[in-house]
Amino acid sequence: MTTRLTIALIYGSGREGRFADTVAGWLEPELASFSQYDIVRIDAAELAFTPGGLDEASAALVESRISQADAFLIVTPEYNHAYPAALKAIIDSSFRPWHAKPVAFVCYGGVSGGLRAVEQLRLVFAELHAVTIRETVSLAHAWTQFDPAGNPFRPGILNGQLAVLMSRLAWWAHALKAARIATRYDEVAA
Ligand SMILES: Cc1cc2nc3c(=O)[nH]c(=O)nc-3n(C[C@H](O)[C@H](O)[C@H](O)COP(=O)(O)O)c2cc1C
Repeated sequence: MTTRLTIALIYGSGREGRFADTVAGWLEPELASFSQYDIVRIDAAELAFTPGGLDEASAALVESRISQADAFLIVTPEYNHAYPAALKAIIDSSFRPWHAKPVAFVCYGGVSGGLRAVEQLRLVFAELHAVTIRETVSLAHAWTQFDPAGNPFRPGILNGQLAVLMSRLAWWAHALKAARIATRYDEVAA
């Protein structure tokens, strides 16, 4: 399994002053240490939204990055026991480019650590013919887990959880990439 993988890193919060940036400050350097992955970013804060979803230019950008990706790592908070509307708009902007690809989650929030949002996302991704990964990095009471400079108080635990998640994600990404090359997914059933 030596082929390089392209992983789309998707930020679901576009809120002003969002905590997502603190999570990103830990996550992105850590991801960069896995040299076998090329990372492309899709960030709700950098996209334009209309009442119907993403605007045309943002939808085209997102679709091209989802198409390019072999796997997805979604960074999501929990809002009222669910995922952010911005993330749903990103997800809904494409259909076929998600098919037969794996999706993993880094989630954060209050007491639930974002896990209720992730459980709902698993249902959404089933509809998109995507495979969600069991392992999840969850940050409960996320704001208590980083010092004022944004360094995690438990880097060993977090980085270890991320390493396991990335190993599982890569396994599925390689397996499904080979399967998609062997047989076009949309040809196996009408
Ligand atoms: C509208 C809203 C609803 C929220 N609902 C929940 C919730 O149901 N469960 C939870 O654990 N945290 C909840 N939170 C806390 C967020 O998960 C937490 O503030 C998180 O850091 C928000 O991420 P962001 O700043 O990157 O957008 C909520 C926050 C907002 C703004």
